[in-house]
This record gives sequence, C-alpha cells and structure tokens, in this order.
Amino acid sequence: MAGRESFRNRRNVIMAMAGSAIGLGNIWRFPYIAGQYGGSAFILLYIFCSFVLALPIFLSESVIGRATHRNTFGAMEALAPGTKWKWLGLLTIITPVIILSYYSVVGGWSIGYLAKSCAFQFTAGSSEEVTGMFSEFVASPWIPLACMTIFLGLCAAIVYKGVNKGIENFNKITMPILFILMIVIVIYSVTLPGAGEGVKYMLKPEFSKLSMDAFAAALGQSFFSLSLGVGTILTYSSYVRGDENILVFSNGTALADLAFAMISGFAVMPAVFSAGIEPGSGPGLIFETLPYIFSKMGTFMSSLTAILFFITIIVAALSSAVSMMEVAVAYLVEEKNVTRMKATVGIFIFCFLLGSICSLSFGPLSNVKLLGNSIFSFCDKLCSNFLMTLGALLFCIFVGWKMKKSEVRDELTNGGRFKTNARLFPAIYSIIRYLAPITIAFIFLTGIIA
Ligand code: PHE
Repeated sequence: MAGRESFRNRRNVIMAMAGSAIGLGNIWRFPYIAGQYGGSAFILLYIFCSFVLALPIFLSESVIGRATHRNTFGAMEALAPGTKWKWLGLLTIITPVIILSYYSVVGGWSIGYLAKSCAFQFTAGSSEEVTGMFSEFVASPWIPLACMTIFLGLCAAIVYKGVNKGIENFNKITMPILFILMIVIVIYSVTLPGAGEGVKYMLKPEFSKLSMDAFAAALGQSFFSLSLGVGTILTYSSYVRGDENILVFSNGTALADLAFAMISGFAVMPAVFSAGIEPGSGPGLIFETLPYIFSKMGTFMSSLTAILFFITIIVAALSSAVSMMEVAVAYLVEEKNVTRMKATVGIFIFCFLLGSICSLSFGPLSNVKLLGNSIFSFCDKLCSNFLMTLGALLFCIFVGWKMKKSEVRDELTNGGRFKTNARLFPAIYSIIRYLAPITIAFIFLTGIIA
C-alpha cells in the first residue's frame, strides 16, 4: 500500500514484537499461574505450548500480515475476497480493543502503585495494612479511574505518533531497559533471606500437579503472552519489509518473551517465599504480596526496588497496550479513511468507557455479575479463554487450509531464498495444518464443556 510505514530493521522488528508480547502477561499472570499449577513442571509444559503450538500460530499471523501489508480486515479481504473470512478480520479488531479496556485498568493500578512507592507508602504499616491497601485502592472509584486514563492517554500518544516515530522508537528504547531493570530486581529478590525456596520452586518440577486444566492454562497463557489470535502479530508483521526472515523474528520474539516470563518468575517467586506467602495466591500476587514484602523490609533499598518494579510493569504494559490499539487504528485509517488522529481518539474514548466500567466493577459496580463474574473478569475470561483461542484457531485454519501451500511456502522461505526455512517448511506446515488446530480445538472444546 502506498505511503505505508515499515519497521526500519530486524532488531526493531523484534523489539516491537517483543514489546507487544512482553507485558502484564509475563509479570502479573505468568508467576501466579505457574504458582497455581506446580512451578517448574508447569513451566516445562508452557515451553512446549509456546514453541510447538503457539509459535506456528505466530507464523500463521505473520504470513498473512507480511504477505498483504494490510490491517487484519484488509488482509482477509486481500487473500479471500468477498468471503466470510472478513469476519475473522473484524473479530480480531474487536478483541484487542476489549482486552485493551481491562488491561488499562491494571496498567492504571501500576501507575497508582508507582505513586505509592514514590511516596514511600510501603515502608510503614503492618502486613494487613499493606495487603488491605490493594482492595481499598481498587474499590475507591476515582483514583484508579484517573490512573487508567493516564495509562490510556500515554498509549494513545504513542500510537498517534505512528509506526516509526511512535511504536518503533518507543520499543527500541524501552525493551532493553526493561530487561536490565528486571534483572536488577531479580538480584534483589534472590538475595532476600529465605529466597532459596522460591528459586527451588521455580526449578524443581512437581509433575503430579499437571492436569488437563494445567495444559489449558499453559496454552491460554502462551497465546496471551505472545499476543496471538487478536491480530496484533498480523498487524505488526504487515509493517515488516518483504526481505525479512519471518522464522528469525518470530523465534526471536518467542525467546525474548519466554526469557522475560522466566526472569519475572525469578523476580517474584523468591520474594514471595521469603515473605512466607502462598505462591498460588492469584492475581493479587504482585499488588498485594510484593508491596507487603517491600514494607517488611522497610529499607530505602526496598522502596527503590518497588519504584523500579512498578516502572517496569508500566513500560511493559504500555508497549503491549500500544500494539492492541494499533490493530484497530490501522483498520480505521486504512479501511475507513479516518485520519490517524481521529482513529486514535475514537479508540481511546471507547476503551475509556469500557475500561471505566471494568474499573468500577471493583467498587461501586461490584454487585453487577455477568455469568457469575465481575465485569472485569468476564471481559478477561471472554477474551483470553474464548475469543483469543478462537482467533488463533481460525488464523491457523486459514493459513493451513485456505491459503495455497505455495503461497505459504513462498512467504515463509522468501521464495525459497532461505534454505533452512525451506528444509523446516514441511514440519511447520504439518503443525499449522494438523497438530495445532486439532490440539487447540480439543483444549478449547474441553474448556467450554467443563
Ligand atoms: N502479550 C501481552 C502480555 O503478555 C498481552 C497482549 C494480548 C498484547 C493481546 C497484545 C494482544 O501482557
């Protein structure tokens, strides 16, 4: 498409993709899910899901995006004109916008908690006071709403600046910093008294805890963490130049994402064990238990670590949020001829409204239940257990069964130029065509039935 921007080099492609992949999923979700399902045994399962099942979906989205250089809807129209596949294009515009709405709530909490750490609020008070602080904070209507608005505003500002000046520049600077910050936090965490138990927990497998549920959780988490099934990888791949090697940047992204999840685990778990807290204590893990640990230490170093920790979360969450917003903005700009400014403001307003409802579901709207869930967790479950998996399944069916094999091979091997890719192609293609859809459909259906 004329005048369309593309990422300037391979490093920036990986930084942008890793920016999307690395987020709250790695820092907030991964440690507590790994905690719930048996530590390192779950991690092994997670590695299997990431590289054997999720990576082929990543490749499928990349093939579609890079082959068409269009937004998700336009890409479907280009490859399967006038068919029902356009609904997949639309589905993958709606899902990231819903995710962005509730994701911004948690992004907002991180901003609130950064402010609390800067005000040295974790240096005093008993454990009950600090853990109670979280429920009080999320239930108080105005501050979380204001923090969420700041978070969404920052995200919109980056997206508005465009692919090169906004998304690419932001990720290229922040991603390396993020890794450094997290490693500093790991060093602090593993040197806490009693932290060894947490390290052991991450390394010693407990295979008895592995169940079908654990498998579903590992698969769901690998999709969420690699931003799959919602058109973000497709959209980012559409900004990748034709001479780039898809296998290289997708593997690079998956490795960076896994590495960051592991580092986060080593930042969170040793600290949790050091404080004698249940590792599987759920989503509150980073907002309740970590501040408690920081407060227990009560030192200047612990406050400084808290500040670094919440900055890390905010940056990681922002780079993911940006990729979600870009999916819808690219669609509006390219298909509806809206200016980038108007598209960004439109999506900002939508997410602000839905995000506000999600945020208020921790306070004034806590009595409103959708199928037994609060509005926030309903949106999360709807997207991460259902819509994302559905999108991922359909993308892989599209590439495996609808696109011509020669088209897929050309895209994955750059017309046969990349010899290693050509050698791997038969195996990759079989996974995309058979193994991935069958396994995903099975887990998806057992999840719905259960
Ligand atoms: N991968 C992101 C994370 O781990 C979440 C995400 C989901 C981003 C869907 C984009 C699209 O936090």
